Amino acid sequence: MALESSLSGKVAFVAGGSSGINLGVALGFAEAGAKVALISRSADKIEAAAQGLRDAGHEAFGLAADVRDFAAIDVALGETVKRYGPVDIVLSGAAGNFVAPASQLSANGFKTVVDIDLLGTFNVFRASYPHLRKPGASLIAITAGQAEQPMLNQVHACAAKAGVNMVTQCLAMEWGPEGIRVNGISPGPIADTEGMRRLTPTGEMEAAYKATIPLGTYGEKRDIADLAVFLCTDHARYITGAIVRCDGGSQLTGGSQASFNKPAER
Ligand code: NAP
Ligand code: COA
Repeated sequence: MALESSLSGKVAFVAGGSSGINLGVALGFAEAGAKVALISRSADKIEAAAQGLRDAGHEAFGLAADVRDFAAIDVALGETVKRYGPVDIVLSGAAGNFVAPASQLSANGFKTVVDIDLLGTFNVFRASYPHLRKPGASLIAITAGQAEQPMLNQVHACAAKAGVNMVTQCLAMEWGPEGIRVNGISPGPIADTEGMRRLTPTGEMEAAYKATIPLGTYGEKRDIADLAVFLCTDHARYITGAIVRCDGGSQLTGGSQASFNKPAER
């Protein structure tokens, strides 16, 4: 299956698109022919990301918007429709995470991660609803293994991402009759990302993690981008409510427990 021009003429809205996996997916959408709108908190970072896509010959713009702020997302979506027309593709990938034992995590620390990941995903999908091209729209949430696997020192991320899976599946049920598909991608450890810099900051931790991964290595942003593009094509027309792992099998072994999730010191 050729992905190259599979999204030609489509409009994609990428939340959390200034860096890492989400920017990699935005590039994948653009290379497949989509026009891309990006949002994140930092005006400088999001403009730099959009400029990078334009420099590569793609159509893209960036706007600063915090996914905790429904009105700001709505404004960004309105601008997207004004420039490019109704939205065909929405990626909700903004997230925050850090390693912290629950006994040392403040209520606001827990709330902050839940607000960005879970409330943010609801906000992005809900705000996009009136702006979608229906039928045919494809919504994707970037979730994580934490949604399925309880992990030490990750109560905030586990709770938040488990909620993201439920938002994904509930909206797939409610919006399916209107021809809107809603799926989740659960990446495994992806090389050269902020997420992995935070979870396995040393070479030793990275090696310990890799030893537990059936395919033996970290994935690349391109692996997630290719899956996301596929999910937005007609080849995936009967897929909705799915949480698709792209993780080299790492979820099968729960191996991350052996590396970054050491129990808290007593
Ligand atoms: P990243 O580069 O830090 O990406 C996070 C993005 O979200 C940034 O663009 C950030 O930009 C934006 N963001 C953060 N808070 C926001 C907010 N409140 N409103 C709007 N945008 C916000 O991290 P990453 O590691 O690539 O992670 C990307 C996604 O993949 C996340 O959903 C993460 O949970 C998931 N994931 C990652 C891995 C991995 O291996 N890295 C594994 C599994 C799942 P600003 O700072 O400009 O706001
Ligand atoms: N350990 C424990 N608590 C932490 C923490 C850590 N490493 N980092 C932040 N917190 C707590 C803060 O102490 C604060 O709680 P308090 O008010 O009770 O002290 C709360 O979290 C909010 O922190 P703040 O820095 O104000 O939040 P923010 O909204 O500016 O930033 C974060 C959000 C904390 C998630 C920040 O790490 C971030 O911007 N992350 C985005 C990038 C990222 O995480 N990438 C990986 C994606 S998987």
